Amino acid sequence: MIKFVNVSKTYANGTQALKNVNLEIFEGEFVAILGLSGAGKSTLLRTVNQIIDVTEGHIYIDNIDVNTFDIYGDNPDQMIEKLTNKGLSIERDKLDLQTIDVTTLKGKQLRKLRKNIGMIFQSFNIIKRMSVLQNVLTGRVAYNPTWRNILGIYKEADKQIAYRALKKVDILEKTFGRASELSGGQMQRVAIARSLAQEAKILLADEPVASLDPVTTFEVMEFLKKINQEDGVTMIANLHHVDLALKYATRIVGIKGGEVVYDIPRHGKSDKQIIKDLELVYGRAIGAKDFVGEH
Ligand SMILES: Nc1ncnc2c1ncn2[C@@H]1O[C@H](COP(=O)(O)OP(=O)(O)O)[C@@H](O)[C@H]1O
Ligand SMILES: [Mg+2]
Repeated sequence: MIKFVNVSKTYANGTQALKNVNLEIFEGEFVAILGLSGAGKSTLLRTVNQIIDVTEGHIYIDNIDVNTFDIYGDNPDQMIEKLTNKGLSIERDKLDLQTIDVTTLKGKQLRKLRKNIGMIFQSFNIIKRMSVLQNVLTGRVAYNPTWRNILGIYKEADKQIAYRALKKVDILEKTFGRASELSGGQMQRVAIARSLAQEAKILLADEPVASLDPVTTFEVMEFLKKINQEDGVTMIANLHHVDLALKYATRIVGIKGGEVVYDIPRHGKSDKQIIKDLELVYGRAIGAKDFVGEH
């Protein structure tokens, strides 16, 4: 579980981007964060991996091993089994699982934590001059000594992890191609594969489909859903489009002026009701431009 307690963020120029945010996100959820541009969505997302530090408050993550800073989620035994099935040997008795306030972490501890938290961006953040495989292998960097990373010599086991990740996002045939030759949708799939290779337990997606055409948008969203459901990766996605949140999220969080003003599970309310609620979050009518597909 990721638990925000009274989190506020004021940037150096005085802009208050988050105001007293309280939010609990459970393992395996697919949370869509909705709100107008400037509402604080990106800031909120980036506090989870502490790329942005908070001014006030705490962010707790449960079941973190205090030695490795690996995240084992709400059901550690299940996570250990999953990882063991992937060929990663983990001894339960050697783990010291505790709840950690990530806002207190620094340096090495923070780097260790971040290896468990993937991030994908609107602009893909793929290294274009490298091959697809090399891009995915960068997800293994935190697991290897610096000399390997500098020389770009990866272990066979890491390559196998990368191939599996590429297969998962259905792009295995591009493995040895240059990343610069990919379409936008393919680049985003490579970015998803990179976070899979990273063995990320949490994936932060900041407007992951905002640069894609409608057809590709749904393809990429389907892969996010797949890794959320099959790999149990907890998904927190800032989304621009209301219909994507309705279709993919298990929970919708609305933010306005840095405050969480809406937070409900997806089920139990009709699309129409949610859209009506979201008009309060947006402070205006929801219209055609808020949908990717036909509505
Ligand atoms: N590095 C920064 N320095 C100062 N203000 C910032 C910075 N980043 C974002 N902001 C401001 O904080 C507010 C929230 O921004 P952001 O989290 O990017 O919102 P969103 O992702 O919802 O568009 C906005 O007013 C934005 O201008
Ligand atoms: Mg943003």
